[in-house]
Amino acid sequence: MKVLVIGSGGREHAIVTSVAKSKRVSKIYAAPGNAGIAGLAECVDISVMDFPRLVAFAKEKAIDLTIVGPDDPLVAGCVDAFEQEGLQVFGPRRNAAIIEGSKTFSKDLMKKYGIPTAAYENFDNAEAALAYLETADFPIVLKADGLALGKGVLICQNLEEARAGVKEIMLDKHFGDAGNKLVIEEFMTGREVSVLAFCDGTTIKTMTSAQDHKRAKDGDQGLNTGGMGTFSPSPFYTQEIDAFCQEEIYKKTIAAMKAEGRDFIGVLFTGLMITDKGTKVLEFNARFGDPEAQVVLPRMKNDMIDVIEACIEGRLDEIELEFENNAAVCVVLASDGYPVSYEKGYPIRGLEMFEDKEGYYVFHAGTKETDGQIVTNGGRVLGVTATGEDLVSARANAYEATGWITFENKYMRHDIGKAIDEQP
Ligand code: AMP
Ligand code: GLY
Repeated sequence: MKVLVIGSGGREHAIVTSVAKSKRVSKIYAAPGNAGIAGLAECVDISVMDFPRLVAFAKEKAIDLTIVGPDDPLVAGCVDAFEQEGLQVFGPRRNAAIIEGSKTFSKDLMKKYGIPTAAYENFDNAEAALAYLETADFPIVLKADGLALGKGVLICQNLEEARAGVKEIMLDKHFGDAGNKLVIEEFMTGREVSVLAFCDGTTIKTMTSAQDHKRAKDGDQGLNTGGMGTFSPSPFYTQEIDAFCQEEIYKKTIAAMKAEGRDFIGVLFTGLMITDKGTKVLEFNARFGDPEAQVVLPRMKNDMIDVIEACIEGRLDEIELEFENNAAVCVVLASDGYPVSYEKGYPIRGLEMFEDKEGYYVFHAGTKETDGQIVTNGGRVLGVTATGEDLVSARANAYEATGWITFENKYMRHDIGKAIDEQP
């Protein structure tokens, strides 16, 4: 079977690594892929948003299955474009990917179907949003409606900051059209957990839990990033919390999407906040998380192709998802200065240390090959993942492995998974 994976980040490298383990797969292509993916797949230089060329490529190569990694193409209807040509493709259609593409949509969905989430109001003009803030409690959270590279969320400590935030999002259009509408939401405190789930439109089956570290600096300081590291499972996501979420969140959400005529087929990512008033949804994404995929997929025992086919064919109820009884930690190696500004093009050394080392992975995110040398080519450069029998040993292994890699301006957080020291 021939598989095409669309995307070029650490998530897609993790997906390609899982697909490559399937005995059923004879050839993998990636569009556009990256220097690490190129070790397992043939990379073709087609943009993730160029649907006509992607579809033409899939036809030309007689691809049996295409997997769409990133949010932008999903929200823009990549899956619909493949399906229109009768091609087999995995991911939510445009009308279901809206659960990530529009925060006002997902908040209204949760309200309508009684899915626990923070209290909120939606706004489509700045005057009304500013008037609302006059009587609001602080801190408060502002969220641009549309996709904003994970950066469209502002936590405002006081009225002044919130006014500036409304201006930034709705008037100055810092995030472009993503800021045409705004959600103003209650600030929640607690422990964040990400739960990814396979969905076939009717059945939803969750994978093992993970926790991301979104801030750039140690101690959760600094700016929000795409994610600086992850660990899995989360010891805070107990069986009791899982039982609650299965009934009150996951099953309700898949049923709500069906009831709205928006069957969700693909991977649903639920960002949860475990608060002392119960567990609530922070956000939904319509895809694997990144870097969550880099700790969850290495622990998955199933053949990923079997699971994906069951999703597409509407028989996910026949599949039992199985994960190793271990733990994994991923530390992102970034270019110093990320997420603001950073230099690129520095040679990366030590990648060969990961070859044939079981339980160790180096997933490429922002790399490229020039003149036979792999160099840095982005803010997040690599994700170094290691497994271990528990979180403490996985963390020790992952940090040890970060030392095998050197490049100029290498930057990482030193406290990925440190929260596990406080575990209950
Ligand atoms: P989101 O893109 O909605 O996940 O938001 C990005 C990050 O902002 C989340 O991972 C949280 O750390 C934080 N955040 C979002 N909404 C809230 C909220 N209502 N209360 C507190 N923190 C939030
Ligand atoms: N790690 C968060 C995300 O993938 O959106």
